Amino acid sequence: MTPPGVTVRDATAADLPAIVGVYNQSIPGGWSTADTSPVAVADRVEWFHKFDRARRPIWVAEVGGEVIAWVGLTSFYAGRPAYDATAEISLYVGTAYHGRGLGRYLKERMIAACPGLGVTTLLSMHFDHNAATKHLNDKLGFMPLGHLTEIAVVNGVKRGLVIAALRIPPAS
Ligand SMILES: CC(C)(COP(=O)(O)OP(=O)(O)OC[C@H]1O[C@@H](n2cnc3c(N)ncnc32)[C@H](O)[C@@H]1OP(=O)(O)O)[C@@H](O)C(=O)NCCC(=O)NCCS
Repeated sequence: MTPPGVTVRDATAADLPAIVGVYNQSIPGGWSTADTSPVAVADRVEWFHKFDRARRPIWVAEVGGEVIAWVGLTSFYAGRPAYDATAEISLYVGTAYHGRGLGRYLKERMIAACPGLGVTTLLSMHFDHNAATKHLNDKLGFMPLGHLTEIAVVNGVKRGLVIAALRIPPAS
């Protein structure tokens, strides 16, 4: 069930500043993304236009007309055809709304949509010190398939990247 007061819908180009705003909130924590300084809306325009409702959607969650979170699917490995049924999930919840079940709700909702989107392998890539994502993925049945140790430097500290996957039965 959608959390009370929350609306989830496909994002439009008009949402891009808010999407970037939510994303930028995650950067100072140093455990969510490999960006180390705020990104500009203009830098995300091309990225945004690669989403498509039929195969690689991006949804926003709103409260009172304010975008507070987003979840999207991107193609794996530059979208080469052999990976058509594989997508990477990205999920960002505004810091003021962490820990209220919204991240879990959005991830479960996107997983439920995957068969209709032609996605049978859902990848989640996260730093190995991203405890929230690790916990959420474990609960939802993602399996860690890879661990690239000491592959990033965040705030001067070497960090590893976990590649976790959820296998999803295709639509019958
Ligand atoms: C990861 C993230 C999406 C989780 O969203 P959220 O709405 O705060 O999470 P939820 O409230 O739905 O919690 C989901 C589960 O994770 C647990 N959890 C939440 N934050 C946690 C933390 N910091 N450490 C450990 N577990 C945590 C919750 O207790 C809950 O577990 P439960 O169901 O067993 O009680 C959110 O922290 C976020 O946006 N982080 C920044 C962006 C990011 O890291 N995205 C992933 C990289 S793509």
